[in-house]
Amino acid sequence: MQTRKASESYTMMTELVLPNDTNVFGNLMGGRLMYWMDIAAAIAAQRHCNAPVVTASVDNISFENPIKLGNTVHIEAVVTRAFNTSMEVHLKVWGEDFTQQFKYKSNEAYYTFVALDPNRRPRVVPQLAPETEEEQKLFEGALRRRQIRLILGGKMKPDDAVELKALFVKE
Ligand SMILES: CC(C)(COP(=O)(O)OP(=O)(O)OC[C@H]1O[C@@H](n2cnc3c(N)ncnc32)[C@H](O)[C@@H]1OP(=O)(O)O)[C@@H](O)C(=O)NCCC(=O)NCCS
Repeated sequence: MQTRKASESYTMMTELVLPNDTNVFGNLMGGRLMYWMDIAAAIAAQRHCNAPVVTASVDNISFENPIKLGNTVHIEAVVTRAFNTSMEVHLKVWGEDFTQQFKYKSNEAYYTFVALDPNRRPRVVPQLAPETEEEQKLFEGALRRRQIRLILGGKMKPDDAVELKALFVKE
């Protein structure tokens, strides 16, 4: 199976925050943002593997800055690493105030997707070949992040997370 570049999965989604997207303080609701992030990330994962995908897990999301009614939301999604049937997608989110002409970072997150075959069983995906220094850094970190989420999801024993353990235990 051919390897793919991270840039081949690059996806940028832009949305306008309307009244129905906001909470009582006039800021974008976290749930609406996560919904848009899920779609942007799924498109990036599908671009990588050319197959339908499902969300397997979402890592911790911290909302650093609220996005205001009338502002624009930019969501950038890119695959950082492919494993066997799963892919990690990194997302960066910015708000943009057109009237004041400035952009501000809202949050970052990692989503994991699994590609499915026509029988809805996990199917093997192409490997990712990082090119830039940033892609290489994200690629290397993806292995440890995967171990954390599989331990938390009850799918891996902490003892089997060799690369994660190496961060804490010096032989
Ligand atoms: C995600 C799903 C396909 C995994 O299926 P499964 O039968 O558990 O399959 P496996 O245990 O063989 O795991 C398949 C892949 O999922 C990954 N995976 C499973 N649970 C995971 C989790 N909590 N976090 C990250 N990856 C996970 C595995 O690591 C494996 O990846 P790999 O092949 O690259 O190593 C299945 O649990 C599912 O369909 N979940 C519902 C998805 C969905 O509907 N999402 C929308 C939100 S409701």
